[in-house]
Amino acid sequence: MCGIIGYIGNKQAAPLLLQGLRRLEYRGYDSAGLVVTDNNIFDSVKSVGKIDSLAEKLKQREMKGHIGIAHTRWATHGGVTIENAHPHFSADGSIAMVHNGIVENYRELKGFLGDVSYKSETDSEVLVNLIARFYEGDLRTAVEKALQKVRGTYGIVVMHKDNADCLIAARMGSPLVIGIGDGEYYLASDATPLLAHTNQVVFLNDGEIAEVCRSGIQTYNLKNEQIVKCVEQIDWDDAKAEKQGYDHFMLKEIHDQPTVYEDAIRGRIDLEDGTAHLGGLNMTPEQMNKVDRIILIACGTASYAAMIGKYAFERLAGIPTEVDVASEFRYRDPIINENTLVFGISQSGETADTLAALREAKRKGAFIRGIVNVVGSTIARETDGGTYIHAGPELAVASTKAYTNMAAILLLYALQFGRSRRLSIATGQRICKALLEIPEKMGKVLEQKDKIKEIALKYKDYKNCFFLGRGVNYPVAREGALKLKEISYIHSESYPGGELKHGPIALLSAGFPVIAIITKNQLYDKMWSNLEEVKARGARVLAITTEGDEKVKELADDVIYVPETMELVEPILNTVPLQLLAYYVAVSLNRDVDRPRNLAKSVTVE
Ligand code: F6R
Repeated sequence: MCGIIGYIGNKQAAPLLLQGLRRLEYRGYDSAGLVVTDNNIFDSVKSVGKIDSLAEKLKQREMKGHIGIAHTRWATHGGVTIENAHPHFSADGSIAMVHNGIVENYRELKGFLGDVSYKSETDSEVLVNLIARFYEGDLRTAVEKALQKVRGTYGIVVMHKDNADCLIAARMGSPLVIGIGDGEYYLASDATPLLAHTNQVVFLNDGEIAEVCRSGIQTYNLKNEQIVKCVEQIDWDDAKAEKQGYDHFMLKEIHDQPTVYEDAIRGRIDLEDGTAHLGGLNMTPEQMNKVDRIILIACGTASYAAMIGKYAFERLAGIPTEVDVASEFRYRDPIINENTLVFGISQSGETADTLAALREAKRKGAFIRGIVNVVGSTIARETDGGTYIHAGPELAVASTKAYTNMAAILLLYALQFGRSRRLSIATGQRICKALLEIPEKMGKVLEQKDKIKEIALKYKDYKNCFFLGRGVNYPVAREGALKLKEISYIHSESYPGGELKHGPIALLSAGFPVIAIITKNQLYDKMWSNLEEVKARGARVLAITTEGDEKVKELADDVIYVPETMELVEPILNTVPLQLLAYYVAVSLNRDVDRPRNLAKSVTVE
């Protein structure tokens, strides 16, 4: 949800800011802009559309200055126009600001400011004018005074045209990271654009203001008290944030899966004892034994990974487990006590709803733990323990490898809890073995990409589509439908196979596409009956089934085979062909696969 970047150093700022914006584009891509200052003059450029259109404008002019700020926008207040694009300037033209977040009381602040002429419809422009109102020669003090009046969320970077030596950054609810380079500093909404320059970072916490000057960084709270911050090292590799020859980040990230899955499970599986060791749980054996309820909180794709976790916790550990969509959890009086374990599952670690739900669970006395990808993200830091999923930078808006690794970590947690309770060593060992075999089996699915591409061409022109699955494959159906709709814009619904006849089957008519996950597990026969029902209505069936199942061709018009594995582990494999299917359908429809319309990668507003 909006990306911000700032630079101060000895190099020309504009090209570095543009490069940073490209890395942040996944956070928002309806408009963008940047400003640099040189000789007490702001030079700025804005454009509507993707970063490429800003880059085109930059080609036509030289922007000089060794300090600057930039922004890529995902509209919240005000339409997609040049005027609403950031940076925003104070009415007297002396202060520039980029903002990620929402100033909730902007109307009240407008009233306080009185007669100011605004150029945009944004809450952000009110904030930069508020800062200007308090400016008396010291920008940090002005920012501090202004923020004391603000209700809402912000990650901001602020610059004064007469001060080419310092940038001021502050955060409340929207992430901000400062990268420390060689005689230079970068500020950004997340670490991805910093990786090309440094792996030494300082994460700002809520309520902190940083004065980032050529001479060094000073950090304060909103009461003007100085705070000492630690410099942390990020071990993400910049190369992992490149397309590496693939046409899209999404295709690259689908192919990353066998490798990053290995990163997720490495050192965490104990084959001999048939268990897993996830040290980050930070619970004593007594506390673990007392857990009588698990709640998995997440949004979107992460919530489908959580559904896989529910099956695993209940089957392996016998612990009642619920999956809650984060935006609902916080408004429904959840029953929580000191024996409830709540996991927040999030790729970005910044999803506002997931974060708020975790805070609510903590307030009510639960253990809260994170299963997160982005290192140093807010959820990672606010939870009292948890596990990084090690998927590396995920830059396509549609999540793929993070989902796989979330599912893997949840299975490991379920195994760890299971073995400390009722699960036998033999079953534990079988699960470990199945988990260890996944990368090779995933490779076999990926090898079929040409065949899946051919199948995609047969399904690309449909306007509607159903995905069906049962048991552990129901989350797979959900994720398959989400992937298809979000990148191809084909209307896709997902149902448990047995649910169709309770209503949705009314939509079926001859040729209606139904994509069914019907692998050789305990629910195969049940799923078979459900497919008979759809076939009887003339549906066109694409089956995802287990290698060697020839019989399925009696019902299916098209078949994609996946290697056999243990039932609980199946979803990790079975989702991969659906990711490829969605990808190739979207490509054949000329969709912007990595940047689908209306979406942003990191949803930091409620
Ligand atoms: C879909 C997708 C979203 C995210 C959701 C949660 O492909 O990416 O549904 O899964 O917005 O995001 P995180 O995992 O960052 O909390």
